This record gives sequence, C-alpha cells and structure tokens, in this order.
Amino acid sequence: MQVAKLRNIVKRYGNALALDHVDLDIHEGEILGLLGPNGAGKTTLIHALAGLVGIDSGSIEVFGKNQRRHLLDIKRDIGLVTQDIAIFEDMVPGENLAFFGGIYGLKGNALKTRIAETLAFVGLSEHAKKTPAKFSGGMKRRLNIACALVHRPKLLIMDEPTVGIDPQSRNHILESVRELRRRGTTILYTTHYMEEVEALASRVVILDQGHVIAQGTVDDLVRHIQHEEKMTLEVAEPGEPLLAKLRAIHGVKTVARDGSRLLIVSRAGTDTLDRVLAIAREAGGVRSVNAEKPNLEDVFLTLTGKQLRDGGRE
Ligand SMILES: Nc1ncnc2c1ncn2[C@@H]1O[C@H](COP(=O)(O)OP(=O)(O)O)[C@@H](O)[C@H]1O
Ligand SMILES: [Mg+2]
Repeated sequence: MQVAKLRNIVKRYGNALALDHVDLDIHEGEILGLLGPNGAGKTTLIHALAGLVGIDSGSIEVFGKNQRRHLLDIKRDIGLVTQDIAIFEDMVPGENLAFFGGIYGLKGNALKTRIAETLAFVGLSEHAKKTPAKFSGGMKRRLNIACALVHRPKLLIMDEPTVGIDPQSRNHILESVRELRRRGTTILYTTHYMEEVEALASRVVILDQGHVIAQGTVDDLVRHIQHEEKMTLEVAEPGEPLLAKLRAIHGVKTVARDGSRLLIVSRAGTDTLDRVLAIAREAGGVRSVNAEKPNLEDVFLTLTGKQLRDGGRE
C-alpha cells in the first residue's frame, strides 16, 4: 500500500521557490531517507505532507485519502518529530507524554500504560522523575521522539533528529528507528548525513534546491556512479581559468573546488585523469594527488557539482 503520494508539489515563499514540482511516494513499512543539504526544501516538504504549511499547487494523498479533505483524520496516524525540539522543559517526561497522548484522546489506565511503554522504548524510564530542563540534548531529543510516538502513529516523520546530538543518544535513536520499522511503522527520515541514510534507509530520495534529483535504493544509487572515478588534487593556483580548462576535458563530469583542493569526477576506463594531471601541472603545479573509488557521498557531488556537507551544519 502507498502511505503517501505527493504529486507536482510547488511551494513558494514570496518569490523564492522552495519546492519545484516535487513528486514523493512513501511505501508501507519502509524507512525512506530524505537526503539533501541545508535549504534543499526537506522541512518544507515534510511540513506540506503533515499539513503544517499550505502548498501553491499539487496534490497530497496520505493513507489513500485526500489530505486537504481528511487532514484531522490523517493527523491521528502521523507522528512528527520536528527539526527543533518541541517539549515542555518544566514538565517531567510523563507529563509531557500525558499532554501529547491527551491530544489523541488517550486517558486513564490506557494512557498510563502507554506512557510507561513509550518512555522505556526511548530509554528514559530511569529519568521519568527529572525535569527535561536538566537533560542533555540527546535526552531531550529522545523525549521529543517519545512525544511523537505515544499515540502509535502508522507514519513517523523525523526531521534531522540527530543533529547536534551525542554519539550514544544518536545510536539509540538510530536503533529505535530500526526497531519501529520491525514493528511495522513506516518512517520518513530526513537528514543531511549520507552515513545515516546508508545505515538506515531502504530507499533514498535526494532533494536539492527544491528538486528531487535522484531516488532509489542505496545500492541503486551507488551502482549508478560505479562507472566513475574520483580524484582529489591539491594545486598551486586553483583559479577559474584552470577550472574551466579541466571542465572542458572530454570525460570530466564535475570539478568542484574546496580551497586549493579540487575534486574531480570523471568517466572511468579512460585516460581522462592523466590529462587532468597534465593540465594542472602546466597551470602552476600539483601539490598532491589522491585517486579514490567513488562512494555514496559522491552521488550527490556527481549530480550537483557540490559537496553535500557544504550545505550541512556540522
Ligand atoms: N518561512 C519561510 N519563509 C521564507 N523562506 C523560507 C521559509 N522556510 C523556508 N524557507 C526557504 O525555503 C528553502 C527551503 O528551506 P527548508 O525547507 O527549511 O530546507 P531544508 O529543511 O532542506 O534545510 C530555503 O531556501 C529557505 O530559506
Ligand atoms: Mg530543515
């Protein structure tokens, strides 16, 4: 079954086009990784899906229902973990969960049981009596996730849930996401970390500047660029004239610059990289050369000519 079907979504903020005719499908039981640099439109797309922002045009179906006509109904089965942590810092975890559970009509013993289960699930049972104001960032995030889970949503949407979080909580969160999937929850997981997508996602959608630029399984995407080679060159004069010359070489796909380092992706099985080196030497010298096999991170570089991390907040 299709959990969500978004078609031709356009969203403008003033003159800026945040979503430019985006299609997105979410299949039942999958962890869909939505990957893209800062400003790509991930949050806007998620908020459109969850009915938090209006769209200029396009159509959204969730659980087989028209989203606009059945929004309240749909929201009952969605859990949203927003990019910014939204919890009550002066209320103990149980009170936070009681509030969010109450919104969904849970009460009495059923609510109590659910709260205990959910706190255990995110590993906060031992901290149930402490106020979140004293929690670490990771613990706050886990409480925030619990708030989105207390009503047992069919679709959990997470917006960069591990940014700025200690490794231990991060691993706990990633493991919880896998466990939720085993229990049948469908998950839309947004991130700008390629490694998280690699570790978690059954399928990936890559968003850049409001466009879906690639989608498929992680394996598909890697296979897509396996016929390519990557080289990092440190040059003496990384100016535009050199970049232009390198880009003009037959077989060179992208040339990206990072200070005096040039990242070059070319077609494999040719002598393209030899010619790159010759031209770089002529243009003032080469300080170091490093040729590597491409990895998933390079899919983004190949498609956009940019490094994914440039847009991220590390
Ligand atoms: N409320 C807003 N008003 C104006 N522009 C916005 C607003 N929210 C987002 N944008 C712009 O829309 C684009 C996409 O933003 P966003 O969806 O937050 O991207 P991401 O979540 O991938 O970082 C960015 O250029 C951002 O500056
Ligand atoms: Mg965002």
